Amino acid sequence: MHNLLILHSSGRVNRSITRQLASQFRQQWQDAFADAHILERDLVASPCSLVDEPWIAAAFTPDSEQTAFMRQRLEQSNTLVKELMAADHVVIGAPLYNFGMPAALKAYFDQIVRVGKTFAFDPAQPEPYTPLLGQTPVTVIISAGDGALLPGGPLYHLNSLEPHLKTLAGFIGLAEPDFVRVGYDEYQDDRHLDSKERAAKALSDHVRTVVARRRSQAGMLEKVVG
Ligand SMILES: Cc1cc2nc3c(=O)[nH]c(=O)nc-3n(C[C@H](O)[C@H](O)[C@H](O)COP(=O)(O)O)c2cc1C
Repeated sequence: MHNLLILHSSGRVNRSITRQLASQFRQQWQDAFADAHILERDLVASPCSLVDEPWIAAAFTPDSEQTAFMRQRLEQSNTLVKELMAADHVVIGAPLYNFGMPAALKAYFDQIVRVGKTFAFDPAQPEPYTPLLGQTPVTVIISAGDGALLPGGPLYHLNSLEPHLKTLAGFIGLAEPDFVRVGYDEYQDDRHLDSKERAAKALSDHVRTVVARRRSQAGMLEKVVG
């Protein structure tokens, strides 16, 4: 089984660039693996709950001491954590909204960054935080209205989306994300068309590499197990 988890966070459905590129990824993955299992989470159509006081109290209570009410408050989070742990590859569609990630995506991360589940915390250790995921590969598809906010652009220092996603991924033990980026959506000029074309090509090459790597890992695993 080759589990792909796709997270969408664009408020747009029909004209969304991140959704279009994520579906390109999906198609290539499906074509590559006959037994692909693909789970798509639309974080806008089905938003994650916001973290509130009962949620925090529940999340910081050991499983064995949780009340039925606490378990109920953590139901969504537990499901999302399980899905993430089961994924062999994660694709995140992340439009640049107000210099950062859309609230829908931040709400997701607030649900899955969980002490004892996706990271461990031991204040007695010199390194108190330990990521608990096993370096699951992540592809982040970014689209921005202004290309100047993308790496190499004069306003990149204002882009808090990419550093934030890298920090979150590292904190819970996802691999360092691979980024595919489209810029200039707000200009709709040649720079945008060019950027979209390059991104589709870069993504296609990237998925081929990801698939080849996965196939060789699966082959090695088969040798060890079988
Ligand atoms: C609420 C909102 C905030 C945005 N903020 C920014 C921004 O800070 N910088 C930017 O370059 N583009 C910004 N944009 C433009 C989007 O990043 C751009 O349209 C992108 O293509 C959206 O992704 P999508 O095509 O998947 O919907 C914003 C768009 C919206 C709807």
